[in-house]
Amino acid sequence: MDIKVSQKNVTRVIENLSGCFKAKTACVLGSGLSILADELENKKVIPYDSLPGFDQCTVLGHDGNFVFGEIDGVKVLFLQGRPHWYEDRTSSSFHIFIQAIKAFGCERILMTNAAGSLDSKIPVGAMVSITDHINLQFRNPLIGISNAGNSCFVGMENAYDKEFRDELHHIASSNKLRLYEGVYTSTLGPCFETPAEINAFRVLGGQVVGMSTVPEVITARYYGLKVAVVSLISNLAAGCGDKELSHELTLSRVKEASANLLSLVRCFIAHQAVEVD
Ligand code: HPA
Repeated sequence: MDIKVSQKNVTRVIENLSGCFKAKTACVLGSGLSILADELENKKVIPYDSLPGFDQCTVLGHDGNFVFGEIDGVKVLFLQGRPHWYEDRTSSSFHIFIQAIKAFGCERILMTNAAGSLDSKIPVGAMVSITDHINLQFRNPLIGISNAGNSCFVGMENAYDKEFRDELHHIASSNKLRLYEGVYTSTLGPCFETPAEINAFRVLGGQVVGMSTVPEVITARYYGLKVAVVSLISNLAAGCGDKELSHELTLSRVKEASANLLSLVRCFIAHQAVEVD
């Protein structure tokens, strides 16, 4: 498949729509986490479908907007929702998503998501900094990319940027927020996993499971952006808890537990002001 998206076109459209707003950091808000963007001052909103070729999100809890403004004087871009393979998206959706972030001038992305825990030491409500992933989606958004620009043979050793993760740990511990670490196993979805699959993922080395994030991480690395990911644990994975899994459960648990993630993101952005000074 040929990826027919051009950074130039995406940049032109985004600059027109945003009035050339630029920010160093983007923050992708996963299921039920759109409220984090309420923190912004001088806030502006652009729906995703204003960008030609980029569809609105179809998942409840993913509002589907670029939202930008300032927190403590620091310019930041929030993305309310992301594309997923299970919405029948093509690779182009992930390229347009990341190219739009680049068009806002961002050099790094803090991605958040809701996820299940496979590890008895990581409880519901915990925040987990993702150290690595196992791609059980068996798809790759770099397939079919023409080699005209960056190489499609992207190294993934530091996909979850070590310096960025260290900064998050520092910010979390200085603000008395507990940040766990774990490996993210990604499934295609949209159904949840079976207990047997979860047992297999644990043997493979996963601590966290979700249906998103990996295609954007791969695409962001292709474009040279630095990435860190924080998962908010909305449930114990299939077979590990007593609740039947559902998207409603994910959203309600995320709502209950989002205060800590909100604090972490706010402190992280405020910390950029200290770095700039
Ligand atoms: N599995 C997959 N995706 C998820 C889960 C889960 O248990 N929880 C939230 N997103």
